[in-house]
Amino acid sequence: MVLFSSAFSQQPADNKFLQCLTKDAKTTPSEFVFTQQHTKYASVLQSSTINLRFSTSKNPKPLAVITPLTYSHVQSAVTCSKKFGYRIRIRSGGHDYAGVSYTSYDQSPFVVLDLKELRSIKVDLGQKTAWVESGATLGELYYWVSRESQNLGFPAGFCPTVGIGGHLSGGGFGAMVRKYGLAADNAVDARIIDVKGRLLDRKSMGEDLFWAIRGSGGGSFGVVVAWKVNLVYVPEKVTVFRLSKTLDEGGSSLFNKWQYVGHNLSQDLFIRAIIQPISAYNGKRTIQYLFSSMFLGTKDQLIKTVKDSFPELGLQEKDCSEMSWIESVLYHANYQGQGVDVLKDRKPESKSYFSGKSDYVNTPIPEKNLGEIWRWCLEDDQPILIMEPHGGKMNEIEDTRIPYPHRKGYLYNIQYFQKWEDGSSEVSEKHISWMRRIYENMTPYVSKNPRGAYVNYRDLDLGKHANANNTSYSEAMKWGSRYFRNNFRRLAMVKGVVDPENFFHFEQSIPPLIRKPN
Ligand code: FDA
Repeated sequence: MVLFSSAFSQQPADNKFLQCLTKDAKTTPSEFVFTQQHTKYASVLQSSTINLRFSTSKNPKPLAVITPLTYSHVQSAVTCSKKFGYRIRIRSGGHDYAGVSYTSYDQSPFVVLDLKELRSIKVDLGQKTAWVESGATLGELYYWVSRESQNLGFPAGFCPTVGIGGHLSGGGFGAMVRKYGLAADNAVDARIIDVKGRLLDRKSMGEDLFWAIRGSGGGSFGVVVAWKVNLVYVPEKVTVFRLSKTLDEGGSSLFNKWQYVGHNLSQDLFIRAIIQPISAYNGKRTIQYLFSSMFLGTKDQLIKTVKDSFPELGLQEKDCSEMSWIESVLYHANYQGQGVDVLKDRKPESKSYFSGKSDYVNTPIPEKNLGEIWRWCLEDDQPILIMEPHGGKMNEIEDTRIPYPHRKGYLYNIQYFQKWEDGSSEVSEKHISWMRRIYENMTPYVSKNPRGAYVNYRDLDLGKHANANNTSYSEAMKWGSRYFRNNFRRLAMVKGVVDPENFFHFEQSIPPLIRKPN
């Protein structure tokens, strides 16, 4: 294997590499390889770069962006990159919080393998399954499933522009998580291109690798080119509502009540709490508590369910709207007023600078301490805390079934999120340090030993490999145990078998743990 050398980092990908890529292909490189000299290089690289923090001139750029049109292009991208000593960054939808799918934090020469052209979706109504290629977005999957049947849906995230490839690799939760679990819980087969360039399916990759790719965060084991997923039943009508209260209107005690009931409600009911500072009518800033919900049933059934289990919410008929499941996707994505076709059009995510972190809560935060959390929120411009209930189906799934371990006993997840438009270093620093501060302050109130985190909200503050040649397992435990708890060791063992030389490496990739012979 060629050693990775920083000396190549600023050099254009050379002709031999391009020849290697197209050796067996019927296409010319110009159709799917965009080197730094290509006029479209910048626009192709930017096309799915969602977090502008990682597209500044300081961020290392790939030698080329490869947008495979076929699986054999992916295979040659892997084998040729290995041969020429280039690293690979795999990108599906480009939503990674730390930008690891399109930039690198060290100076190793790398290429971006962007799967946006591989996005076919085939729904099998008889089997109630779909094969979906990794470059498709959640919105495209939702759209094509709903075109086939009013009674089928897929349980995954809220944002339609998120890529299937990264989302399923890291877990994936949305409004049906309490009924059907994570997106990755519903994956039943996959096609992956491994470090040797082989195209494998579940049978040929084996159960260990198939286990590992469902929730380990993507990019460590190979390039997943397609997933087969089970589709789930959705009723013809679902009901949604958003109900908000401010601090003065008793929002904090309502949130406190939600902490006790959100994870215990009927599995058909998902209510998340979104908390953020807003300007009040008197010009002062206050806190808004927004309860945003989806119920798999009619308005009447919802009102009865809420009356029985969460009467403090004071939900009334006028707050609720019945709609089809696919319309609820638009509703949650704030795409109301637009037709469902917008999902198929890969409407681009509006780009901004953003930062995020995550936590899990096992015991309700004492009501007497909530006030200080709201005060911390008022210390910055537009922070947002999104709390998503677990419970229901999540309690029923063993914490070793797939790498995602935060199951029984986890009440809800917290996402700390903040986005901003001015990318100057002072402004970015201000928001990032607020994020670090609140995370530190929250320590007493969240899960412990280890403090949990969600790999799909990747956070490099938790730690990262020193470089490709220094990926110690015990160092990686710092973040690996936070994301995967006891599953981390098994992930590292699988990595040691399928990619012992650590070709698929990035800042938080799973390190190979090699079993020593007896
Ligand atoms: P991207 O292409 O950046 O990939 C993410 C990671 O997976 C990278 O490490 C990448 O190398 C790897 N990867 C990508 N494709 C791969 C492939 N085919 N094979 C192997 N590895 C691959 N999450 C959630 O659970 N619920 C939600 O509602 C939301 N909502 C949301 C909104 C917004 C605006 C953002 C920015 C993010 C979310 N997320 C989320 C988080 C999201 O699930 C997470 O960032 C996913 O990893 C993004 O997948 P992409 O393919 O878009 O990212």
